[in-house]
Amino acid sequence: MSPFRLTRTLPEDATGAALRADVREGLSARPRTLPPKWFYDAHGSELFERITELPEYYPTRAEREILLTRSGEIAAASGARTLVELGSGSSEKTRHLLDALTGLRAYVPVDVSESALTRAGEALVAERPGLEVHALIADFTARLVLPETPGPRLVAFLGGTIGNLLPAERAGFLASVRALLAPGDALLLGTDLVKDEAALVRAYDDAAGVTAAFNKNVLTVIDRELGADFDPSAFDHVALWDAEHEWIEMRLRSREAQTVKIPALNLAVEFEAGEELRTEVSAKFRKEGVRAELSAAGLEMTRWWTDAEGRFALSLSVAR
Ligand code: SAH
Ligand code: TRP
Repeated sequence: MSPFRLTRTLPEDATGAALRADVREGLSARPRTLPPKWFYDAHGSELFERITELPEYYPTRAEREILLTRSGEIAAASGARTLVELGSGSSEKTRHLLDALTGLRAYVPVDVSESALTRAGEALVAERPGLEVHALIADFTARLVLPETPGPRLVAFLGGTIGNLLPAERAGFLASVRALLAPGDALLLGTDLVKDEAALVRAYDDAAGVTAAFNKNVLTVIDRELGADFDPSAFDHVALWDAEHEWIEMRLRSREAQTVKIPALNLAVEFEAGEELRTEVSAKFRKEGVRAELSAAGLEMTRWWTDAEGRFALSLSVAR
């Protein structure tokens, strides 16, 4: 069997120190916020996989359609021998790229979810003898040190996950991706597009309640890791469209006045009835906006593809 290597660049207790700092900062701010990367413990990663199969959640299907139809063009344009994927999750859609990249030698999935990386990596090496899979447990918003693998590199960031960063974070993130690219390397970026509000809200507030469970899972993570006493059923899932920022905002709304204790932080957080905690934004994009953000980071968009219904886009960029 070909090698599967897992490298941890996050400290073993990353869901310790960083979580404590993020939770203290976010819950002390007004409005209260929590950073999204804490959704993805093993259960959260599983819930996200269920989201991708929901009838209301179109982004995964739309992006898969583009990958299916355009992987050949992407492969021809990049000629990549290494595919780096940020926030790779299950690596499910990535298979279309792996199939098309005929000269590929190494796949480097990067994720904070160790369970997702291990599952995906072990399946891939079993399926594809000859492919070196070097998984990295790392935070893609921090400085990334990639393993030494053959170039050119294609860096993929799929799923519209870039929309989960705030605009200032996106600028910093894209600049750090730019710094990873040598001449001949490219970035493949998945962005969900602005569309009809009802369709957007449905995608983040499904009838079966899977997204609500996913949203509340961040409370369960804090309970487990920090000994807190959040009662997820005392919060309602809220998804709304912010037309000014053009993003979907996910919130948790306290059903009643309550005090939540977080012993590891020596903190008691008081929620008023109806008070909301922002857990995630999911920004939606337009072509010219994506081009401008890439350009500001020193990247030049060379290709832009959408699905047939124009719901989602993949773009290819190179360093300027
Ligand atoms: N690319 C997959 C998964 C998208 S969900 C798809 O398109 O379906 C977002 C993924 O990014 C999750 O697997 C999550 O664990 C990971 N993630 C979120 N924040 C991260 C961060 N700061 N650093 C690294 N991975 C992160
Ligand atoms: N990257 C995904 C998106 O923005 C993440 C996501 C989907 C998500 N549904 C969610 C995050 C619900 C929080 C809550 O589409």
